[in-house]
Amino acid sequence: MPAVVVLGAQWGDEGKGKATDLLATTDPIDYVVRTSGGHNAGHTIVIDGEKYATHLLPSGILTPGATSVIANGVVVSPEALFRELDGLLARGVEIGGLVVSANAHVIASYHSVIDKVTERFLGKNQIGTTGRGIGPAYADKVGRVGIRVADLFDESILRQKVEAALDLRNHLLTKVYNRRAIEVDEVVAELLSYSERLRPMVADTSLLLNQALDRGQTVLFEGAQATMLDLDHGTYPFVTSSNPVAGGVCVGAGVGPTRIDRVIGVIKAYTTRVGSGPFPTELFDADGEALQRIGGEIGVSTGRTRRCGWYDAVVARYASRVNGLTEFFLTKLDVLDHWDRIPVCVAYEIDGQRVDEMPMTQTEFHHATPIYEYFDGWKTDISGCRTFADLPKNAQVYVEALEEMSGSKIWGVGVGPGREQTLVVHG
Ligand code: GDP
Ligand code: IMO
Ligand code: MG
Repeated sequence: MPAVVVLGAQWGDEGKGKATDLLATTDPIDYVVRTSGGHNAGHTIVIDGEKYATHLLPSGILTPGATSVIANGVVVSPEALFRELDGLLARGVEIGGLVVSANAHVIASYHSVIDKVTERFLGKNQIGTTGRGIGPAYADKVGRVGIRVADLFDESILRQKVEAALDLRNHLLTKVYNRRAIEVDEVVAELLSYSERLRPMVADTSLLLNQALDRGQTVLFEGAQATMLDLDHGTYPFVTSSNPVAGGVCVGAGVGPTRIDRVIGVIKAYTTRVGSGPFPTELFDADGEALQRIGGEIGVSTGRTRRCGWYDAVVARYASRVNGLTEFFLTKLDVLDHWDRIPVCVAYEIDGQRVDEMPMTQTEFHHATPIYEYFDGWKTDISGCRTFADLPKNAQVYVEALEEMSGSKIWGVGVGPGREQTLVVHG
């Protein structure tokens, strides 16, 4: 399968890193590509019991033989990029090729200053961002005052662009937020300090990827964030500032939709969310605490505790629809080993009415309460299962029921963080 998209079907942290690593090691993959977001992502890969986390780099950086690509739709902090690369090199990881799009936008330190100041200003309405400058960098891009990677190689152009970017920002910072202005010289010097190391990595990644696909090579697009955090399709305004849905992959990589062969939605056997915003199946009781503890639900990037709740089939059906999923990869089924009875949200009740599809407005979504169906637990350790037939009967029933109600077939199931702790349902 030449072009495969792996994306998040819930609110992030579904196990996209594991799914990418798995696909990249079972079939030879030539390119692993990030197409949106930045170092707000945190993807965990466990290889032979050893844990790695990637943020801005695609997880494919750990796959021997694969070239990693940071495409045009990503917002790149050069500081975070080199910090992450150096961290992996220090651990003795052999880094394959790394290519960065000349058109990717740059996150400078002022973006994260503005991110944090804006959040503070929002008070109780804050989004709960990662504070990495993602929103302000995308705002500059859309406002046409962004700085692109290519600009780092021409000092006079860079200076003009930094001046334009800081002009309005500094008015806001000094007059509204009561902060000191950001100096153009400091930003230019900061960005220029990375240009020499960055230069050999920079290319036209759209051309590179399309030529690879023309040659029949395999390209894996590794999603970051998730469908419900999508700027257009997520729980706005409690979203990230990019389009992590499948359509965003085409924009973010410069490849046409006709080139994509598979779109895999990664989804947990329950639900988590970090940051603010509505979450109909969220639990505030001992079950929520148990999911958090057993699932190890702590953010990889910010160390924040993830909010936990039961599986939401309305979200799953919505993810199937807006992404045109060809299949799901269901992760963390093993976390549910301990329950006698497992609730699954099959629909919502909104203002006294049953609603089977994602409601049209955010106001309705805020009012949604889950309608649950209950499944018998299996109360057995399934982490050693390697085929669907190995699973206890009740776990098979649970997976089949989720498949039935979620709008796409389930290709594989994760029963532990390790690469090998996976079973294929429909190969
Ligand atoms: P991502 O952002 O989508 O790549 O996901 P994260 O890495 O932020 O969070 C997923 C967490 O679940 C990581 O700690 C993974 O190691 C872990 N994980 C992934 N799949 C499984 C699974 O099937 N079972 C268990 N127990 N853990 C898993
Ligand atoms: P991965 O790729 C979970 C959330 C933040 C916040 C909102 C906006 O690991 O699944 P931002 O800093 O992007 O402006 O924050 O989005 N968020 C994530 N939540 N996993 C992620 O990435 C996330 N990236 C951003 O918590 O609510
Ligand atoms: Mg994550």
